[in-house]
Amino acid sequence: MAGRHPSFPEGHSMRIGIIGAGNIGGNLTRRLTALGHKVSVANSRGPHTLTDLAEETGATPVTVTEAAKDAEVVVVTIPLKNVPDLPSGLFDGAAADVVVIDTNNYYPKERDGRIAEIEDGLPESRWTERHLGHPVVKAFNGTYAQDLLDKPRPQGHPERLALPVAGDDEAAKQVVRSLIDELGFDTVDAGGLDESWRQQPDTPVYGLRAGVREVTEALAAASPERPAAFRA
Ligand SMILES: NC(=O)c1ccc[n+]([C@@H]2O[C@H](COP(=O)([O-])OP(=O)(O)OC[C@H]3O[C@@H](n4cnc5c(N)ncnc54)[C@H](OP(=O)(O)O)[C@@H]3O)[C@@H](O)[C@H]2O)c1
Repeated sequence: MAGRHPSFPEGHSMRIGIIGAGNIGGNLTRRLTALGHKVSVANSRGPHTLTDLAEETGATPVTVTEAAKDAEVVVVTIPLKNVPDLPSGLFDGAAADVVVIDTNNYYPKERDGRIAEIEDGLPESRWTERHLGHPVVKAFNGTYAQDLLDKPRPQGHPERLALPVAGDDEAAKQVVRSLIDELGFDTVDAGGLDESWRQQPDTPVYGLRAGVREVTEALAAASPERPAAFRA
């Protein structure tokens, strides 16, 4: 397991809200609580359905609104089509510098149906950001959920995987990169959110289990053309 990143000194516990308690949200809850962070977790059915995860991890089951309130970092990790169902003004009462991580992907054929703006070229995270009304940092969207548990490696380890991170707010992006480092992965700066199509489904970096050099090359090799398999 990775040690703490220098910007998160030993004992620094962040307040992290996780919206979505499925494959990704559940495993992020497991790892982030194990690292000593104060995690609140929410799903669509309510906190009473999250007692098993809470008992296992020590996370606090909450409503979606509570997950966003008072958090320093909020992870939105739900089926993309459900983003517009989240309470409006979710971040109105949140700290101005709350960091919002978007892990979501557009799967029009299997799950999300047709979303015209995305089909017309809007990066998926830009669409999500507009619905949330708060800037997002795109991360974890191409990471296998199980890898969050199985693949953490210490800094400098030859098998340490790298994850691309895109976002417009450099300070927010740095918080996310530090958190990912703490989780046991390297990161690659994938640019601003307008560039985040480079890590969307079916791009060379999507699902790529590789280090910094290969991930950097894969981001550069991406085509802006939306692949047919990911069009409605
Ligand atoms: N699975 C992966 O390996 C993977 C990897 C990278 C990225 N992603 C992306 O990350 C996102 C989450 O994927 P996942 O596999 O973790 O999903 P999942 O296992 O299907 O879990 C979805 C979670 O979102 C919750 N949810 C749905 N609608 C909600 C709403 N309106 N309000 C609050 N919570 C809501 C669900 O709660 P209920 O059960 O109560 O409905 C559930 O806890 C997706 O966009 C996916 O494409 C997945």
